[in-house]
Amino acid sequence: MNKNLQDRLQEELENLREQGLYNNIQTLESPQGAWVEIEGQEKLNFCSNNYLGLANHPEVVNAAQRAVEQYGVGPGAVRTIAGTMELHRELEKKLAEFKKAEATITFQSGFNANLAVIPAIMNKQDIIISDELNHASIIDGCRLSGADIRIYQHADLDSLREQLEQAREDDPDKIMVVTDGVFSMDGDITPLPEIVDLAREFDAIVMVDDAHGEGVLGSHGRGIVDHFELHGQVDIEIGTFSKAFGTMGGCAAGSKTLIEYLEQQARPFLFSSAVTPADVAATIKAVEILQQDDELVQKLWNNKEIFQEKMKQAGFDVGKTVTPITPVMIGDAKTAQKFSARLMEEGIFATSIGFPTVPRGKARIRVMLSATHSQDDLEFALDKFKKIGRELELIE
Ligand SMILES: Cc1ncc(COP(=O)(O)O)c(C=O)c1O
Repeated sequence: MNKNLQDRLQEELENLREQGLYNNIQTLESPQGAWVEIEGQEKLNFCSNNYLGLANHPEVVNAAQRAVEQYGVGPGAVRTIAGTMELHRELEKKLAEFKKAEATITFQSGFNANLAVIPAIMNKQDIIISDELNHASIIDGCRLSGADIRIYQHADLDSLREQLEQAREDDPDKIMVVTDGVFSMDGDITPLPEIVDLAREFDAIVMVDDAHGEGVLGSHGRGIVDHFELHGQVDIEIGTFSKAFGTMGGCAAGSKTLIEYLEQQARPFLFSSAVTPADVAATIKAVEILQQDDELVQKLWNNKEIFQEKMKQAGFDVGKTVTPITPVMIGDAKTAQKFSARLMEEGIFATSIGFPTVPRGKARIRVMLSATHSQDDLEFALDKFKKIGRELELIE
């Protein structure tokens, strides 16, 4: 390897370690679940996005196995050549029905969905107005589009209005407002109805990325558009299957025309192979499970209420979350890493999150609650959080 590059990378890695920002990647030796095995030991899993336990649900696993037997393992090609199987079409139809949208298109991941959709719709003549805390994949999708990117303060409607007024004055070809639905590091929800109203006033396109709302918000987990009853009023809704659905893949929902256009123009759809039959079949089953019953979604929200209330009573700051994402605010990145390491020693797998994923000085333990957690699991965790919180003098 080039010596100069090698030295620079070593230096960067050293910097990350010194600042407490180096990711210590854990390896799981078991399936996803309430408890996972790490280095031969059982740990309470407090950091997966497997909100409903579908990643290892017997019916979902079975659907994937059957698809492998029937269709094999690989997609063979990109969707526009020979990679579209009847399973892909079935999923897109079922998903549209589930989300009460006109149509949907699926991609290889949620990240890819943003890289696919934003540059297909927006270009150099356009302005994108983006929430300052939007996910990295939205940011990258915006950059890739070549549009003029303007930032509004997080979930701040006055700031958004200001940007819309300025954008209208600058007279671009199109204006798009883009936001996360649920903000993955804080657990708050974007004020979507007000954003839709503002966008209408300024004739702007609205796109919401519902990665953490899919399977969590709305009736039966239909997502943020359903939660706010905004069916047909949001131009583009992005989703991912890798979180509550427990599988892998991403999607966009919207009008039939939008979806037909994306099938022709979205580059990851045209130039990267289709999702595997196993993943698609597993996602179909996840959608069917949610459609039939919302018991898992209810259990998830029940766990959220119990855990967050007791954490607050114990003196922890859980920020402004209104969803099962539970940020335990610590501040200093090194203290957050220490907290996470102590949790691991005590039997809890909960990673610390620091810059650049969250702003400097706002490091936290991000607890991801799941319907798979039992009341005993939550009590176990509360005891450990209190013990370590006192040790590190974060609570009394
Ligand atoms: C808002 C948002 N969009 C997209 C993604 C990426 O989804 P995927 O893991 O399916 O690529 C995430 C995942 O963290 C997310 O939070």
